Amino acid sequence: SLSTMAKEPVRVLVTGAAGQIGYALVPMIARGVMLGADQPVILHMLDIPPAAEALNGVKMELVDAAFPLLKGVVATTDAIEACTGVNIAVMVGGFPRKEGMERKDVMSKNVAIYKSQASALEKHAAANCKVLVVANPANTNALILKEFAPSIPEKNITCLTRLDHNRALGQVSERLNVPVSDVKNVIIWGNHSSTQYPDVNHATVTTSAGEKPVRQLVADDEWLHGDFISTVQQRGAAIIKARKLSSALSAASSACDHIRDWVLGTPEGTWVSMGVYSDGSYNVPAGLIYSFPVTCCNGDWTIVQGLAIDDLSRKKLDLTAEELTEEKALAYSCLT
Ligand code: NAD
Ligand code: LMR
Repeated sequence: SLSTMAKEPVRVLVTGAAGQIGYALVPMIARGVMLGADQPVILHMLDIPPAAEALNGVKMELVDAAFPLLKGVVATTDAIEACTGVNIAVMVGGFPRKEGMERKDVMSKNVAIYKSQASALEKHAAANCKVLVVANPANTNALILKEFAPSIPEKNITCLTRLDHNRALGQVSERLNVPVSDVKNVIIWGNHSSTQYPDVNHATVTTSAGEKPVRQLVADDEWLHGDFISTVQQRGAAIIKARKLSSALSAASSACDHIRDWVLGTPEGTWVSMGVYSDGSYNVPAGLIYSFPVTCCNGDWTIVQGLAIDDLSRKKLDLTAEELTEEKALAYSCLT
């Protein structure tokens, strides 16, 4: 029967694969966390020449782990070889932020990488390749990748804000002492930066008495408007301060969540946050990569429409859009 027929392997590219997110992410992909327990994969790993030996070490460990779903590994410092035939591209390569830096401080180093890798993907990836940019500044790197790969459909280029979304779920879960799996429909609006707006106005918790609004259960607007928002906005910096390294296992896990939901669909009644190309929804300027609430079905995302936006939220949606408009201008000034 069809159900027992083996699926064709999916080729998944991870750039920056010798780095710390890469080291957490590739075993998750090889175990089926990203694409499902019945989906064979071929991993393509790209890094730069100074990291070639470390990259080869990661390849050795992937062989040693004997993952049943892993049907092949390409480990290379050649972007064209890395991009050839890939169905999914997770772009982690770049330079991470250090303590005291804002994410846009890493701009000039990273946008140049995304401009050049855009061409390699456009020319050599499989048709309909889905791209997730993780490296910071994630939204603007994704926008540069999109603009320099004009033949890749804009719907196929996204950036990671699922980590922020998951952080918001985690904060609500801790505050209410409920399982994180019972919390849903938070929203991250805008930039993966400290101007992002984590919004709980539509979020709910599944309780024995049905679904209840988070706002009603928390019943503390001071926390919701204050520490909740700033904790989520500043969580990346807090991890860097504590670990002396930026987040890695949570970033890798959230990248798997992002691709899994995009490819396999979001559960009924649930949305997630993804950085996607703005079409002007919610009066966000078109032409930015901006984080919206989305549902996914048949491999496509759709922005959730018609959510009420109060005055406080409106200001926060606009503020993070303004930052993205500035980042876009700064990115172009770095490229010339
Ligand atoms: P890392 O320094 O440990 O690893 C990055 C890797 O990228 C290194 O191995 C480096 O050699 C490689 N690299 C550099 N230039 C490259 C190029 N041109 N092509 C391919 N590889 C290249 O950093 P990390 O901690 O793994 O973080 C990676 C990126 O992800 C950083 O930009 C970080 O800020 C970002 N990040 C984003 C999120 C998010 O939620 N969007 C979360 C965590 C980290
Ligand atoms: C994060 O959110 O943890 C990452 O973007 C790393 C950073 O620079 O904050």
